[in-house]
Amino acid sequence: MAIRLGTARSVPATAPVVAHGVTTEGLASVPGPVGRAELERLGFEAKAGQVQVLPHDGSLTVLVGLGAADAVHADALRKAAAAMAKALGKHDKVVTTLAADAANGTLDEAAAARAVAEGVLLGSYAYTAQKSAPKPPALAQVTLAGSTAKAVREAIAVGEAIAAAQNLARDFVNEPGGSLTAPVFADRAAALAKASGLKVKVMDEAAIRRAGLGGLLGVNRGSTLPPRLVQLTYEPATRAAATLAFVGKGLTFDSGGLSIKPGTGMETMKSDMGGGAAVIAAMSALVAVGAPNRVRAFVPMTDNMLGGDATRPGDVLKTRNGKTIEVLNTDAEGRLILADALALASEEKPDGIIDLATLTGACMVALGLKIAGLMGRDAAFVDQVRSAAGRAGERVWELPLPEDYKQLYESKVADMKNIAGPYGGSITAGLILQEFVGDGIPWAHLDIAGPSWATADEPECPTGGTGFGVRTLIELACTFRKG
Ligand code: BES
Ligand code: MN
Ligand code: ZN
Repeated sequence: MAIRLGTARSVPATAPVVAHGVTTEGLASVPGPVGRAELERLGFEAKAGQVQVLPHDGSLTVLVGLGAADAVHADALRKAAAAMAKALGKHDKVVTTLAADAANGTLDEAAAARAVAEGVLLGSYAYTAQKSAPKPPALAQVTLAGSTAKAVREAIAVGEAIAAAQNLARDFVNEPGGSLTAPVFADRAAALAKASGLKVKVMDEAAIRRAGLGGLLGVNRGSTLPPRLVQLTYEPATRAAATLAFVGKGLTFDSGGLSIKPGTGMETMKSDMGGGAAVIAAMSALVAVGAPNRVRAFVPMTDNMLGGDATRPGDVLKTRNGKTIEVLNTDAEGRLILADALALASEEKPDGIIDLATLTGACMVALGLKIAGLMGRDAAFVDQVRSAAGRAGERVWELPLPEDYKQLYESKVADMKNIAGPYGGSITAGLILQEFVGDGIPWAHLDIAGPSWATADEPECPTGGTGFGVRTLIELACTFRKG
């Protein structure tokens, strides 16, 4: 049951739980039963995301830290709202002035309300599908006290749609690989997309073979389950400003194949469809947010297993655009299935292609667990992706795609190898993907191997799938301008 979000002009006198936002500067004049000295003794410093619950005449006054007043932006507020929702999860109804308290010269109350809505839904997320007796969440209603203006209510609805999509992506990532297999993932994606007003086409194994998707078939060869390639289309209500293509790696479980991963490296490999999950989940919100651009999505789906006829190191695969790849390490499989999907996406000559993939461990070495690697071709398009990510509060950092590194994956027997030596693994993976993007099409690649999975609980996300990328994709679909 989703949390209901509402608005009220002021805080009802009878509200049992009322949460206020407090900036560092506002510590001197906090609402509620205790003064500054007492708060200091309690250790409440109004740091962003800090929550202090104060009993007060049979009700609760809750202080939510917003940090320094000049640094209250959407990201800090989303985090504060998430921390609030987490701390108050045991209460049925919460009233909060957080959005009104946070609104300032650069963040109006509608934008603040959207950030609060997102934070509340993201902070309340839990994956309980595998528990025999999950505790149902108590928090059912959060009322934003302050403005009830139409702009505020609409902003809340947008925030709800975006956070719901991100939580859907988390569900996909958190579902075990033996449960969310390629055929199941495709069925779920198709059902979700239809319910969200999108056009759906699911390619089964025969269709994939007819289409010549040799990379996807090669990775699937070690599996007893068939592959899928899901295509979704979002058509805006009015004439589309431009067409984007979203491509996502949908590797439902990565054992490494015959180049098998060690046990610990495999523990979280149900998350190897995080890019595909982000794409499908983002698509599901485009009608609700009214994106002005047409968006086509392509998600290749399979697991990477080691059945008796699995692709062997040394095998050569022929991909959709005719190029051949010598597979020297079956664990470098993401680029093989994305090769076909990028080539397919390119055939429709979109105005820009963005792919998301949990592609390389090297990207985690380079940028750590919280920042995605951004690569691409066409500086203006890469800039649009970078600024969309910035507005969405998702961290990305650009890596180069140098021409001369292409020699690292030259093959003696095929057009290229699927590996390129021990250094610069994220870059060489990006360069290999670029081989399959049609000439002249602006393209960006996000390597989300790090940020798609949280290794510890945080206010906005418990350990597990994060839904990283969903907010950037939705923001890009809403703001992309051609040329
Ligand atoms: N899915 C992995 C990348 C990955 C690793 C994602 C850890 C999330 C966490 C990918 O398929 C892979 O195995 N990449 C190899 C490439 C190498 C064999 C060239 C890697 O990064 O080791
Ligand atoms: Mn792999
Ligand atoms: Zn993988």
